[in-house]
Amino acid sequence: VGYVGSAEPSDRAQGVIMGGLARLEYRGYDSAGIALVGSGGDRVAVAKKAGKLERLAKAIAEQPLPAATAAIGHTRWATHGAPTDVNAHPHLAAGGRLAIIHNGIIENHGALRDELAATGIDFLSDTDTEVAGHLLASFVMGGMGLADAMRAVAGRLEGAFTLLAVDALDPRTVVGARRNSPLVVGLGDGENFLGSDVVAFIEHTRSALELGQDEVVEITPDSVIVTDAKGAVVEREPYAIDWDAAAAEKGGFASFMDKEIHDQPAAVADTLRGRLDAQGRLKLDEGVVDEYVLKSIDKIIVIACGTASYAGLAARYAIEHWTRIPVEVELAHEFRYRDPIVSVKTLVVAISQSGETMDTIMAVRHAQQQGATVIGIVNAQGSTIAREADAVLYTRAGPEIAVASTKAFVSQITAGFLLGIYLAELRGNKFPDEIDALLSELDAIPAKIQRVLDTAAPIREVAASMANERTVLFLGRHVGFPIALEGALKLKELAYIHAEGFAAGELKHGPIALVEQDQPVFVIVPSPRGRESLHSKVLSNVQEVRARGARTLVIAEEGDTVAAQHADEIFYVPAAPVLMTPLLCVVPLQIFALELAAAKGYDVDQPRNLAKSVTVE
Ligand code: G6P
Repeated sequence: VGYVGSAEPSDRAQGVIMGGLARLEYRGYDSAGIALVGSGGDRVAVAKKAGKLERLAKAIAEQPLPAATAAIGHTRWATHGAPTDVNAHPHLAAGGRLAIIHNGIIENHGALRDELAATGIDFLSDTDTEVAGHLLASFVMGGMGLADAMRAVAGRLEGAFTLLAVDALDPRTVVGARRNSPLVVGLGDGENFLGSDVVAFIEHTRSALELGQDEVVEITPDSVIVTDAKGAVVEREPYAIDWDAAAAEKGGFASFMDKEIHDQPAAVADTLRGRLDAQGRLKLDEGVVDEYVLKSIDKIIVIACGTASYAGLAARYAIEHWTRIPVEVELAHEFRYRDPIVSVKTLVVAISQSGETMDTIMAVRHAQQQGATVIGIVNAQGSTIAREADAVLYTRAGPEIAVASTKAFVSQITAGFLLGIYLAELRGNKFPDEIDALLSELDAIPAKIQRVLDTAAPIREVAASMANERTVLFLGRHVGFPIALEGALKLKELAYIHAEGFAAGELKHGPIALVEQDQPVFVIVPSPRGRESLHSKVLSNVQEVRARGARTLVIAEEGDTVAAQHADEIFYVPAAPVLMTPLLCVVPLQIFALELAAAKGYDVDQPRNLAKSVTVE
């Protein structure tokens, strides 16, 4: 976060930065720090601490910082160097005159460090960032202005970075630069802001400006100057932020995650709203993909990471069924490095909440280089994947703050369905009535999710009683399989309990050896109204584990009395078309992980070791 404002030094700079960091803490919470300028003197005032932001806040309360006109602040997810006070950002250079913060990885930091060390510079930290600070100092001491010096630094760096810096001798300026890592400008009145994400300054302004690749920005209280790598001024139109500030607040819930679970009916409804015209044609939010290209594609590859990849797996069944186009779903980092078979006839769908996951960005670029058309399913407006994809379909989940993804997940599946319906229609749908029926079934999903939320007391109770479990297994078949994977991931992320999701049919081929007396096993039972054989096959799998002592926790369709006979605990979800059931079945599993983690006393919004937006490969 960066801020410049108040003509006279005041505590607003500190307030804006600390507030912005609190909203951005989801990006990393290993350490936090702040640097302020404007109180006179030739040194930056700095406070930084390993641990969560509250430790920094406490340190500042004990040892207050001076009033300021400009400031920068950072929360860290460690890459180079352990999370210690010394490795926390900001890093100082030029004898404490300059301070710098950094996201990303500077790949040539080793060579630069050797080069700078040879000139007599001592390094205090193990970070790659400190290299950029000393490099900046060398240019500033050589007589360059801060923005020119920042451009010169960017010219020497390889890898990914967002950099912000302040100079104690120029307390009305903050400069920034970016490559492969995001930076947005917030436009205020007599003050301006910088942030990795608009939520950093959403409570102060709704007007923002994106920074392009390799651009440098210089903000003062009344100017914003963007320049390209050569120093030429870039004119850019501001855009209005359409997320409201309240959406980034907990709104009375104990955690962001609990709130976001409850936001899911609205997230799905908003993602569906006004998307299809009378002909069933999808309206993409940005960019255009030639319909001729979409008519000629012979393969769809979904690339994503983490929960977003499970959303891709869950949507795949519907997209293939409706379009008859083969769909592959692959982890972005695996796709990128395996020489995938991609051509101009491949449609790549990149799913990402943040739009900033570096693994996914690299996969998008690789696909585009091979000639593929890329459609992004993205939540964060103006993010890198949204900009670089040929077209974007925004999920309208609003800001997702909790690290573990919930409402983005259901919105991603929903957007995947919309894309499937659109492609089916475009390519000559053979069942027009069916498409109308599908759309009205989709419209009914938000109320059904609400019903799952309203009847969640039993799953909360069961979860609270399971804090001592060591392993939980999740079984699902067909569309239930990705939900089993997601249920297991949620439990790992939040409750640090070993959990695994299996295809129910695979159980007998190995994993059943894990089942011991009282082993909890979640099973997602398909609707008895779907393919009858699937319902009974999964129930056979339930009996197989039960016969070996497992305690079965069954998720089934309301009224499924047969499933109830095989369940130690049963949780019902409303009936829906089979392909859409992932949107309902995942909800009890999210609540289960949340409650179990809370029962263990863990921070559900910021689980250990994770970050929401992983901007390194
Ligand atoms: C991180 C987060 C996950 C998320 C994944 C993909 O690993 O901790 O919750 O699913 O990134 O993020 P994206 O922003 O690309 O959806």
